[in-house]
Amino acid sequence: MLEKTTQNSQQENFVIQCQNLHRIYNDASGMPISVLQDINLCIKPAEMIAITGASGSGKTTLLQLLGGLDKPTQGEVFIDGANPNKISDNELSKLRNQKLGFVYQFHHLIPEISALENVSMPLFIAGINRSEALDRGKKILQEVGLSTREHHKPAKLSGGERQRVAIARAVINKPLCLLADEPTGNLDHHNAKKIIELIIEFNTAYGMSVLLNTHDETLANKMHKVLSLQSAKLVTT
Ligand SMILES: Nc1ncnc2c1ncn2[C@@H]1O[C@H](COP(=O)(O)OP(=O)(O)O)[C@@H](O)[C@H]1O
Ligand SMILES: [Mg+2]
Repeated sequence: MLEKTTQNSQQENFVIQCQNLHRIYNDASGMPISVLQDINLCIKPAEMIAITGASGSGKTTLLQLLGGLDKPTQGEVFIDGANPNKISDNELSKLRNQKLGFVYQFHHLIPEISALENVSMPLFIAGINRSEALDRGKKILQEVGLSTREHHKPAKLSGGERQRVAIARAVINKPLCLLADEPTGNLDHHNAKKIIELIIEFNTAYGMSVLLNTHDETLANKMHKVLSLQSAKLVTT
């Protein structure tokens, strides 16, 4: 089990929490741009939250900070009570592997290996033996309706199928929270609907929290709460 390095009774109740989060980037000429200012957000167990906002409003930046993939300029993030910026790289990798699932707009599957090996990858990384990992991989592929595609490499799958593989990979470890960055942004309406249904099914089945960035109102409105990034601040819509 992963040690919780920073925690108190309040943080215990949240899957992910951030306090007073700021992120400043430097633009091409070295000028600072304040992309996020004083962001405070708590994600409860099994809660589903959508973050909307214009392109360039900081949605991806926020998701990366909350997933421990980037460091805030100021403020703190807690993932299941642990501060990702105060633990070693090794502990952070473990934290992400065990507690979080990530889905991106472009699937980010490994092109050289099959759908089954792609979905089983988080289990390989966690050190689970190969045959057990592949068995669990087969089960999760079945849950996303892709049993017949186990041995297909990503290039032989449709866009919608690739994204279902990406969701299966993200949830195979039964994460506390799924972080999804415009997961339907690259799909037609029919495939987007299937992805939404799957996310909600896994939320119901596993009690997994969901934080997703989207431009898609249909998707946003299926979440319990919709927040919007406007002028670097997070506001309730
Ligand atoms: N690594 C970076 N260096 C400098 N500027 C960045 C970097 N990443 C993002 N930005 C800038 O931060 C702003 C927010 O980007 P992003 O979080 O990707 O927004 P969104 O996901 O809402 O489109 C944009 O103006 C973008 O150009
Ligand atoms: Mg983005």
